[in-house]
Amino acid sequence: TPKGSCLESVKIAIDTGYRHIDGAFVYYNEHEVGQAIREKIAEGKIKREDIFYCGKLWNTCHPPELVRPTLEKTLKILQLDYVDLYIIELPMAFKPGDAIYPKDENGKFIYHETNLCATWEAMEACKDAGLAKSIGVSNFNRRQLEMILNKPGLKYKPVSNQVECHPYFTQPKLLEFCRQHDIVIVGYSPLGTSRDETWVNVSSPPLLKDPVLNAIGKKYNKTAAQVALRFSIQRGVVVIPKSFNPQRIRENFQIFDFSLTEKEMKEIEALNKNVRYVELLM
Ligand code: A2P
Repeated sequence: TPKGSCLESVKIAIDTGYRHIDGAFVYYNEHEVGQAIREKIAEGKIKREDIFYCGKLWNTCHPPELVRPTLEKTLKILQLDYVDLYIIELPMAFKPGDAIYPKDENGKFIYHETNLCATWEAMEACKDAGLAKSIGVSNFNRRQLEMILNKPGLKYKPVSNQVECHPYFTQPKLLEFCRQHDIVIVGYSPLGTSRDETWVNVSSPPLLKDPVLNAIGKKYNKTAAQVALRFSIQRGVVVIPKSFNPQRIRENFQIFDFSLTEKEMKEIEALNKNVRYVELLM
């Protein structure tokens, strides 16, 4: 991310009406996000309680004793007193240390044995300390969710599970499981993400070129992106579209003045290819 573009984009987003901001230590731009929020509060545009900031615990910080200090580091970078939501970014742990992606001499990731339930207890303590209003997880499958839900002495269950979710990867089974357990699905890559081959599976075709999404969009004078976002929110999936382009930031917010018919929802659901763009092969 070029320096400053995150700051500008978050300010434009807040002016446009966005209130949910999805961040992470590993995005290396939390200082700009925090600055944007603080500037908008100083301007009187918003109050802190209007913003819903989600931060994430990285793989190298799963040992329970590292959880709170890691969140405190994020809060220091943001210069905020609390995050609204703190989530375990991935269910697998890497070796703790300064390297974000620790690798051995053969280029293989160095994993770390931890107990997700113990990590979760440290997350619960962060909520009790008021550093996070709510706690949740990300990239957890059903089995991993069940491990937490069935933990003896569970104090708080995860409020949300952030996973890839869009018309080409609709997650019907996980969505149903989470619905039954009152866990909100937050869908990342709701627009089919970028075409960056270093981390995106580009063998799956670009979502926004899809003829069905474009044809439905034409009917409502909306773009394929707006139809994809509307589809997700209409089935109860929270969306976190990413854009650093002012026009597209505004475009992605114009999804509350139309709705898709049941037939259109079914047509879009049928686009599911069950293929991920973000494979997370580690
Ligand atoms: P940009 O930042 O230049 O707008 P996702 O949210 O699924 O991860 O997708 C993000 C990608 O989609 C980014 O490459 C972003 O580029 C692009 N993008 C965001 N909004 C739109 C839109 N309304 N139309 C087309 N592309 C978009």
